[in-house]
Amino acid sequence: MSNPWALWLRTNDRQPYILADKVGWDAFVNSGTRDPLKVLSRQEMGALSAEALEDYNAARHVWHANPAAVRTSQVAAAFSVIDQVMASNHRDGDRLRGAVAIDSEPGLGKTTIATRYGRDFHRRIYRRYGPTTKDGSQRLPIAFVPLRSATTLKDLNKQILRFYRHPAGSRDTKADLVALVVDCVTTAETRLIIIDDLHFVDYNHRDGKAVANHLKGLANALPVTFMYIGVGLLERRFFTEGNERASKGLEVAQMARRTTRCPVAPFTLSTDAGFRAWVDLLTAFQGQLVLADAPADVLTRHARDLFRRTQGRIGSLASLLEHACHIAVTTGIEDITAEVLSMSVADNASETSAAAVS
Ligand SMILES: Nc1ncnc2c1ncn2[C@@H]1O[C@H](COP(=O)(O)OP(=O)(O)O)[C@@H](O)[C@H]1O
Ligand SMILES: [Mg+2]
Repeated sequence: MSNPWALWLRTNDRQPYILADKVGWDAFVNSGTRDPLKVLSRQEMGALSAEALEDYNAARHVWHANPAAVRTSQVAAAFSVIDQVMASNHRDGDRLRGAVAIDSEPGLGKTTIATRYGRDFHRRIYRRYGPTTKDGSQRLPIAFVPLRSATTLKDLNKQILRFYRHPAGSRDTKADLVALVVDCVTTAETRLIIIDDLHFVDYNHRDGKAVANHLKGLANALPVTFMYIGVGLLERRFFTEGNERASKGLEVAQMARRTTRCPVAPFTLSTDAGFRAWVDLLTAFQGQLVLADAPADVLTRHARDLFRRTQGRIGSLASLLEHACHIAVTTGIEDITAEVLSMSVADNASETSAAAVS
């Protein structure tokens, strides 16, 4: 026999979409918010059959593992920078467009910023122009291209083609691949290409330099804006490295000028505004918890401790809270108490840093 939570899980369970491909990206763009999950009191939980309780808890695990993205001040600031860069996206094809680079340490929300921006942009373009281009092809305003370790020039082109589900032949030459990329991008009228995890390109290696130069070439050849995302792009001198030959020096410098860097900072408690922003983030997270005994200030009362545990990093906070919710449900404590937090592990880097300061 089915219960409301088994039914909820049928339509709200985890979504296995893969953003690196147009079908998965489309599923992500069109995924709505999950149906709300009612918070049951202990008494109501006690009245459930063992199976219903198991399904209610399974539904809560899915719910807590997928908190809605919060519009933090970092997200708002990044969106504003991207919007400004996107102003040049309106330029006709014969004029060059600017690029934006989202650059920070890991776990600060870069990919979240890029995918949320991309999703809004995709929806806006669909609203205005519809799902097909003038010649009847599927319109794909965004191409999302995550790189993997040791990306070579061929891998980069193939990864772009993979987004379009274009079957690149293994014998295709570099020139063939570039022609295919140009064809896919123009046919789908793509306007923004997001290259994620660009730090996987090793610029000290010949392959890496070729990738950097190739990206510059594509940016010149295609009527799209590029969004580059990576860890420590500035330190890796992505925008200034590349081809060392003196004749290309000018081109590289030009590229650096054309790219706007958008850093993403962790939260800080050292200013009043910083503290407020941290509390606002915790408020947004605590409003989403489905725990029977959690008070209204379930997370904000631990503001300083949560900061110490995560060093104000949103990715570490999200994983710490996910673990804490899991413990709160499975132990039956139904609250994020100091005890639950002490049982919950954050990611390894946070734990090491927290131990160093405490
Ligand atoms: N704006 C946000 N709202 C809620 N959670 C966020 C937000 N940004 C990041 N996160 C959480 O932090 C985790 C890491 O973010 P991510 O965007 O993957 O960081 P990065 O790409 O910088 O490594 C995400 O999986 C998510 O749980
Ligand atoms: Mg990322």
